[in-house]
Amino acid sequence: MIHVKTASELRRMRVPCALTGELRAYVAGLVRPGVSTKELDDAAAAWIAERGVKSAFLGYNGYPAHICVSINDVVVHGIPSAHEIVQDGDIVSIDFGIVADGFVGDCATTVPAGEVAPRTRELCRVTRASLVAGIAAAKDGGHLTDIGHAVQTVAEAAGFGVVRDYCGHGIGRKMHEDPSILNYGRPGHGPVLKSGMVLAIEPMITQGTYKVEVMDDGWTVRTRDRLPAAHYENTVVVTPSGGEILTVPDIAG
Ligand code: MF3
Ligand code: CO
Repeated sequence: MIHVKTASELRRMRVPCALTGELRAYVAGLVRPGVSTKELDDAAAAWIAERGVKSAFLGYNGYPAHICVSINDVVVHGIPSAHEIVQDGDIVSIDFGIVADGFVGDCATTVPAGEVAPRTRELCRVTRASLVAGIAAAKDGGHLTDIGHAVQTVAEAAGFGVVRDYCGHGIGRKMHEDPSILNYGRPGHGPVLKSGMVLAIEPMITQGTYKVEVMDDGWTVRTRDRLPAAHYENTVVVTPSGGEILTVPDIAG
């Protein structure tokens, strides 16, 4: 069952979504060679606390930090660490979730640190373009799988891989609601999208193989070939003209 938000629920959803968008812009601005991923988490934790809201990730299935920081071949769910230092040439994927007034916002971006290899820069650009295409497909009267089809078409046209093991999701009072939003597939299938559905669309795109594996910490997801991956995410509301981004500002990373 995909929930269609009421006008009042949508008004409330805008608050955590805009907060995650602002937090994303703030933390992305702190990424530079030499910063530890723990410093990024500490900065996010302080920012969140100042606003009297909560991280949606801390304690989620036992997750131990406020944000996820995933460098290079780490696709998603990297756990911040004081021992992990951002290096020149890294790409740093950061995922943010905030709960406010009983509703959740969720967004992510991939930030380059220093001089990133051309093909890896291209990976970031194309991943973001695939998200833009997925959001455009999130329109009233369309089908759920139109979104993943749009993402996959953009990513594969550029020779990149689409992660199969993780996907986007509906979002609202809970971080993960129906439906699951695959980043691949044939168009024109699944439920019909309706204005007022709120979706977290999040392509995870790889430079090489799309196959991934979870490390022994139970969280860190890496590409099997250890080539880089990028991750962009916005929470959007379905409208007649496509997804309206709630996690503003939407930044290029
Ligand atoms: N933002 C991620 C998602 O969309 C969730 C991060 S996992 C957590 O599924 F454990 F850190 F919460
Ligand atoms: Co998400």
